[in-house]
Amino acid sequence: MTVMLADGRPMPRLGLGTWPMDDEEARQAVTHALSLGYRLVDTAAAYGNERGVGAAVNEAAVPREDVFVTTKLRGADHGYDAALRGCEASLGRLGLDYVDLYLIHWPLPGRDLYTDTWRAFVRLREEGLARSIGVSNFTPPQIERIAGETGVWPVLNQIELHPGFAQTGLRAWHADHGVITESWSPLGLGQKLLDDPVVTELATAHGRTPAQVVLRWHLQLGAVPIPKSADTDRMRQNFEVFDFSLTPDEMARLDALPGGRIGGDPDTHVEL
Ligand code: A2P
Repeated sequence: MTVMLADGRPMPRLGLGTWPMDDEEARQAVTHALSLGYRLVDTAAAYGNERGVGAAVNEAAVPREDVFVTTKLRGADHGYDAALRGCEASLGRLGLDYVDLYLIHWPLPGRDLYTDTWRAFVRLREEGLARSIGVSNFTPPQIERIAGETGVWPVLNQIELHPGFAQTGLRAWHADHGVITESWSPLGLGQKLLDDPVVTELATAHGRTPAQVVLRWHLQLGAVPIPKSADTDRMRQNFEVFDFSLTPDEMARLDALPGGRIGGDPDTHVEL
């Protein structure tokens, strides 16, 4: 099950998120995920677990070319030269020759270096160190700016997305511009969303778990969810979502759940 990125490369429909895991947790989780059939793994320089993720990918029986590895440039490495070095450092920690997808983790508009950073990303793609390049937590004007200045569009924008924060306008804009939506915190970080009465009602109706219902919502929106789990049963559960569907009415009920943002605000976020 893949989606096609605008640069012609396929990407798995669902992956494993690895925040917050340390190197050892990440190594174990990614090893298990690959054995369950996951083929997309998401990490970031800022997570501090690229060594663990890379070790699992390198140790796995699955060929490297069958695994789609995403990492992200941390905020301290914005700028043209710094981004080139940041990628080299990530590849060194991962123990890989290339990543499948490299993302600018946050736009950090206050520093206004994301366009120079994107120029470096274009070069990294040309050099084959990043097979595909994209962004995370970007707004449409920020994406239009980097595309306008380089002629190269990001293939994907990884954003906070879950029932309660459906990002309808941004997703529609992505679809109009050929940008894939990838969902971080797809389960809304867990328990509150998974205990919601609408989510639990739909889970009972389908004989599924609340997490499976929420992940199905992402898939039917056309988004790529990357649920984090360090638990082997929940990891298996989160991958078993390709054999049932929600009705349009059920999708609309999940779209309408109240909630809001739970993670960082892209306009002000400066940490990573
Ligand atoms: P755990 O790692 O113990 O499974 P998100 O991906 O939205 O950030 O959510 C991650 C949180 O949701 C983690 O706390 C994770 O805990 C929990 N989680 C992941 N999968 C499931 C599931 N299938 N059921 C319940 N909780 C889950």
